[in-house]
Amino acid sequence: MYVCSCFGITEEQVKQHADAGRCTPRQIASACKAGTDCGSCVRRIQALLGRGTSCAPRTEMATTVARTFVPDEAARAA
Ligand code: FES
Repeated sequence: MYVCSCFGITEEQVKQHADAGRCTPRQIASACKAGTDCGSCVRRIQALLGRGTSCAPRTEMATTVARTFVPDEAARAA
């Protein structure tokens, strides 16, 4: 299924770029131009990056950071 109709980019192509380490819409745009014309596909590209690819979902990253800085946990561990 096409994600970016301006450049004929499919979901599968976006996932392949993501699996190759391109984990932001800007990096996807650099690889295949998707999102650089009308921009209507950028939200869909963002959604694809968060699931079914090797790119980490933002919620997991936020949880990891939050756990790192919880003072009570640091005090218990000491
Ligand atoms: S649909 Fe992707 S830039 Fe227009």
